[in-house]
Amino acid sequence: MHKVLIATEKPFSSSAIREIQEIIEDAEMKLEVLENYSSEEELINSLADSDALIVRSDKVTCNVLEAAKNLKIVVRAGAGYDNLDLVTCTSNGVVAMNTPGQNSNAVAELVFGLLIYGARNNFNGTVGNELRGKAIGIHAYGNVGYYVGKIAHGFGMKVFGYDPYVSNDRMQSHGVEPVSSVEDLYRTCEYISLHIPANDITEKSINKSLISMMPEGAAIVNTARKEIINEDELIEVMSQRDDLMYLSDISPDKSDTLLEKFPGRVFFTPKKMGAQTHEANLNAGIAAARQIVSYFVSGDETHRINRQ
Ligand code: 3PG
Repeated sequence: MHKVLIATEKPFSSSAIREIQEIIEDAEMKLEVLENYSSEEELINSLADSDALIVRSDKVTCNVLEAAKNLKIVVRAGAGYDNLDLVTCTSNGVVAMNTPGQNSNAVAELVFGLLIYGARNNFNGTVGNELRGKAIGIHAYGNVGYYVGKIAHGFGMKVFGYDPYVSNDRMQSHGVEPVSSVEDLYRTCEYISLHIPANDITEKSINKSLISMMPEGAAIVNTARKEIINEDELIEVMSQRDDLMYLSDISPDKSDTLLEKFPGRVFFTPKKMGAQTHEANLNAGIAAARQIVSYFVSGDETHRINRQ
């Protein structure tokens, strides 16, 4: 009987766990759950005889994969997979998948929570700004970007997008105006919503040159990854311009400096919570469980993210 382990430092809702359990047990597999763990050792111990693993942002490192002798498949219940060591997955014959789109609406809604919080001066009662009529730039037009655009239209915003991997036609068909360079996006938009993944190319790519191009009263909302921001250069530009805000769902490495230097102009959620809704937990958790079952039953590799 295949054993499936859910290992989540940030647990799914109990209803999502119940649904996942039903799917796994209906397929005559066994489910085990490791939640709120705090060390790699705990993960390694729980994974010892597992055939399949479901994680969120949990780090599946080379150490973890080398110790997991039975592991055949790992599914990241979510979109970004910078937490998985894909090279070791491939060399150890482990199939890696994600569940694209399943938590996107939750993240997009939080973008607007952060935007309004910033535009209304952290709810301190002073005169703020409306979103209507302002330009929002969607930096990377994937699943979250799509929902951000949809919601932005509801607010009456002008919506621009930049994504070299997505056709202009696709954006235009959603009422999003594509710009031809990333610089154009930052020059044009008061608000930038970041949706690029963290990788060698994007690391620290949101830098002084881009940030300083933004119009007066601008804000950057980051619900993607902290690694994409050049924090030293963000601090430099914010020191020179007192009109900029940085609102993030991922606490930066330099959060203490940012909070101390720019009170009221930066905000960080206490724990990454973009995808932390009942709905997103259910969607992503159920998708992950179904993908594992179909992989074992029929070899289905839809949403595989590592090479064979
Ligand atoms: C994702 O990449 O899917 C999001 O960043 C959500 O991550 P989480 O599952 O750790 O909340």
